[in-house]
Amino acid sequence: MILRGTLTAVLSFALVLSMSSIAFADAGAGEAVYKKKCKACHSTSSKKVLGPGLAGQMKIHTPEWMKKWLMDPQGTWVAGEAETEEMKTRLKRSKKKKTKMKIKGKGLPEGEANDVVDYLKTL
Ligand code: HEC
Repeated sequence: MILRGTLTAVLSFALVLSMSSIAFADAGAGEAVYKKKCKACHSTSSKKVLGPGLAGQMKIHTPEWMKKWLMDPQGTWVAGEAETEEMKTRLKRSKKKKTKMKIKGKGLPEGEANDVVDYLKTL
C-alpha cells in the first residue's frame, strides 16, 4: 500500500514536471534560439555588434513589448508605441522607416519568443 502511494506520487510529480516544460517558457531553449537566430547581430554582454548587446535588456523593456518585438520586429518598428519610440531615440534611429533587425520569416514563432524572453532575463 505504502509502495503504491509512493509510486503514484512519483508518477504524478513526473507528469507535472513534463507538462510544465511544455506550458512554460524555458531559458535553456531560449539560449539555443539565441545561438541560431540572434548571435550574428547581438552579443550576450553589453557590447554592440550590429545590434545592441543583450545584457540587461529586460531591465529596459517589458516582457510584453519584447515578445511583440521578437515576433514581428518591422511591425513593431512602425506601430508607434512609446516603448519603441524611446528605443529608436536612444539608438538614434528615429527617422528610419525600417529596422535593421531581420529574423527569418516575419519573426520568431510565439513559443520561441517566450523562451527567448526567459533567456534574456538571465543576461
Ligand atoms: C540582422 C541582424 C539582427 C538579428 C538577426 C537580430 N537582431 Fe535584434 N536588433 C538588431 C538591430 C540592428 C537592432 C537595433 C534596432 C535597429 O537599428 O533597427 C536590434 C534591436 C534589438 C533589441 C532592442 C535593443 C534595445 O537596446 O532596445 C533586442 C532586445 C533585440 N534586438 C533582440 C534580438 C533577439 C533576441 C534576436 C534573435 C531572436 C535578434 N535580436 C536578432 C539586429 C538584429
